[in-house]
Amino acid sequence: MTRHAVAVVTAAAGAGIGSAVARRLASDGFDVVITDAHERRCRELADQLGTEHNRPFLSYPLDVTDSPAVEQAIRTVADERGGVDVLVNNAGWSKIEPVAEMSVDTWQRCLDVDLNGTFYAMRHALPHMIERGGGAIVNISSIAAWEASTEHGAAYAAAKAGVLALTRVAAAENGKHGIRINAVAPGLIYNDFLRKIYPDDFFAGYAEQRSRVGRVGRPEDVAGLVSYLVGPDAGYITGEVYGISGGVFPHA
Ligand SMILES: NC(=O)c1ccc[n+]([C@@H]2O[C@H](COP(=O)([O-])OP(=O)(O)OC[C@H]3O[C@@H](n4cnc5c(N)ncnc54)[C@H](O)[C@@H]3O)[C@@H](O)[C@H]2O)c1
Repeated sequence: MTRHAVAVVTAAAGAGIGSAVARRLASDGFDVVITDAHERRCRELADQLGTEHNRPFLSYPLDVTDSPAVEQAIRTVADERGGVDVLVNNAGWSKIEPVAEMSVDTWQRCLDVDLNGTFYAMRHALPHMIERGGGAIVNISSIAAWEASTEHGAAYAAAKAGVLALTRVAAAENGKHGIRINAVAPGLIYNDFLRKIYPDDFFAGYAEQRSRVGRVGRPEDVAGLVSYLVGPDAGYITGEVYGISGGVFPHA
């Protein structure tokens, strides 16, 4: 049997970018490992992909803030699936509190999920990739890393900016091992969960007034970019960050 390249995606069982990335990489032919803090949804998505693609997908309940658990997950995947070729660090968390009122818990939780979780997964996956002589990592940051805005919260902005620095330096360190590491920085990407947080007219207003393409982003938009970045056409791309915001925060 041909071995499919193995792609581990964190926070892959939600309604947003993570599950769209998992679906897209499964369609691209990857042996996708669905990891998420939510055990049941994790298993359900793996089962669903298994039915759709007629091959088994592994689900692995995983909270990315637990470094030993992340290490164990990567080891298990490498043992059971023959390696880790691709890692997509998608887990993110935010709570918007002004700095002057922010609780230490909010600051720490945000740094823990968004930045430390990304570091833990890279720290534990990279030795496997180095040993095997290659791999690709994509870290999901945000335009919050760049924007001077009160919309995202400083903890989230700082964590997502940290993800970009981590990406840049890790890419410089690991190119010689055949490992490419990039980041993507989405603007607003609609999902059903966000509809519970924001009023319906928020999305229409964003599409009309801020987006330059007349709509909000879709998880599939980001999944397409991730698919490209981990694929063979992106072999000369590492240490980069790609904005994907419908022109809300362009970099040209
Ligand atoms: N949605 C947006 O507008 C937007 C914009 C820019 C960046 N992002 C970033 O994209 C990523 C995905 O966000 P999304 O909104 O598409 O949601 P998503 O559906 O991809 O992720 C939600 C999932 O994350 C899981 N999760 C939460 N904390 C976790 C943890 N500690 N460990 C493992 N799993 C955990 C939840 O169980 C849930 O299933 C995040 O990093 C987010 O910061 C999102």
